[in-house]
Parts: sequence; C-alpha cells; structure tokens
Amino acid sequence: DDVEQEVATGSLPGWDRVEEHVRAAHERYRGNDDGAVADYIPVLAEADRSLFGVCVAESGGAVHAVGDADVEFSVQSISKAFVYALVCEAYGHEDVLERVGVDSTGLAFNSVMAVELHDGHPRNPMVNAGALATTALVPGASFAEKWENVRTGLSRFAGRSLELDGVVYRSESATNMRNKAIARLLESYGRIEVDPLEVVDVYTKQCALRVSARDLAVMGATLADGGVNPVTGERVVSAQVCRDTLAVLASTGMYERSGEWLFEIGLPAKSGVAGGIVAVAPGKGAIGTYSPPLDPAGNSVRGQRATAYLSRTLGLNLF
Ligand code: DON
Repeated sequence: DDVEQEVATGSLPGWDRVEEHVRAAHERYRGNDDGAVADYIPVLAEADRSLFGVCVAESGGAVHAVGDADVEFSVQSISKAFVYALVCEAYGHEDVLERVGVDSTGLAFNSVMAVELHDGHPRNPMVNAGALATTALVPGASFAEKWENVRTGLSRFAGRSLELDGVVYRSESATNMRNKAIARLLESYGRIEVDPLEVVDVYTKQCALRVSARDLAVMGATLADGGVNPVTGERVVSAQVCRDTLAVLASTGMYERSGEWLFEIGLPAKSGVAGGIVAVAPGKGAIGTYSPPLDPAGNSVRGQRATAYLSRTLGLNLF
C-alpha cells in the first residue's frame, strides 16, 4: 500500500540485500496493531497478537528468517494448497479437475450455499468444500494411512517432520459441525465416496499441523522450484503439479480478496486463519509470514503488508 512500485522489475537484486529487505519488512510492520485474532476455533483466540515472523526462502536454497519465524502455529487452510498438490501428483490434472473445479466461489470459505448452487460440484479446492473433496482423494487404504500420507507429504515440502497440534485438533473437532455438514452434503451429491466424517477428521488434522513462517517459506519455495525442496534437494511433486497448484493459488488463494491480492501484490499465495501466509514467486523463491491478527476477509494484516513490501522490493511479483 505505502510501498512504491518502482522496483517491480521482475528480477532480483543481489542476494546480499535480501536479508536487509526481510529485516526492513519486519521492522516496518511490527508496530501495526490492526486486525482481530480468529476465534471461531476456540483455541486460536489465545494466540499472542504481537507475534510476527517473516522468512524468505530462495529457490537456490538460502533461507532468511527474521522475528518470530520459528514460532509454530497451525497451518490451517494453507494445508489445502499442499494437499491439493499431493492429490494432483497422485491422480493427474484431468481427474482432479473433473472432481474439484478451479474457480472462486464468490462466497465465504465455509459456505454451504456454494455447494448447493453448483449441484454439489465443489468449485474451489482452496475453500472448505473443495478441500474436503480433495482430502477424500488422498491415497491410502485406511484413514490412518491417508492422514500419514498427508503428514509426511507436507513434511517433505517443509523438509522436516511436521507434527499435529493436538490442542488445536481437539478444539476444532469439537466445533466443526459446519465442515461435517458440508462433507455430508458432498456425500449426498456423490462427490465424496468414502466416509465423510472420517474425511473431516483427516482434514481437521491436516489443518492442525504445526508449521513456522520458515516452514511456509521452504514449502512455498518447493513449489517455486518446480517441486524440488531447495533445502533438502528432494523431489516432492512434479513441475506440472507445481504450475497447476500455483494457478489455483493465484485465482483463489486469498479467499474473497484473491483478485485484489493479485492486483496489488502480484503473487500466488495462500493464507490460513491462524495467521500464516505463503506467497510463491515461480523460479525465485517464496515468502512465509506469521502474525495472528486478521482482516475481515481472514488474511493476516501484518503478513499481507510484509509480503507486499517484499514482493516489490525483491522484484518477486509476477505482475
Ligand atoms: O476448516 C476450517 O474452518 C479451518 N480448519 C481452516 C480455516 C482456514 O484457514 C480458512 N480457509 N480457507
């Protein structure tokens, strides 16, 4: 917003300046106290609103972290991007597209009406209905196996073993009637072919995986790097899957603000209600941020500002 766009050149400045810009982004927005911490999942309301971490991971493997970049929080909806990638890897572009569309619903992320309006066809894998239909497709002979495939898959993106936050999982499990209703509705339309409540359980666990801003940056940099984790060197998904996933993030990753986000910030991104954001610059790297206070659309206030600043000063933005 208050950053001039003069450096949106599409090329990166010398790496010696990345560290400096990441520090400047943190310094610039740490005093911002706008926004409200999410409370519809009871335990999220207890988050410390002053926490603020910023991290840039380059597709070459260097990682620059500032502030509370190693504080862990629940990944929440950001998991949707990476589970979508894993499912695309397992089934391929066509099969997944047939089951879950790639368009914004124009409605809230937990909308039931969005399902009803399109004959039960979930249009958007980045909101709850489409994400539940996506999680239902995760390979595995049992739900325990599906969960383990989600956990290990996201861990490969992060380059370390991610663990479940049991407190967040239980808190959300006790209050997720709406997601259960959406899953049952999808079942009624034949869009979920396995036990819908078990799917909600795996989905609730995937949302409760603990990550840091550093993890988000590395996970995003894996998508930026054509599917190879730039820190571990491991191939996690194919390059084709990365482009599929990034296209979906560009159009639908930031809830109902996705168009405005692309217009102002110019990068595919995904946010979560615990306060995380990951933004991906294909071929260059990714920005991971964490700060709990959210704007009315559900996106972290400081995270959006810091991402905007870095996308411009580092020339990461596509547009
Ligand atoms: O299902 C939920 O409501 C949360 N586990 C995730 C919410 C979130 O981050 C918003 N999603 N687009």
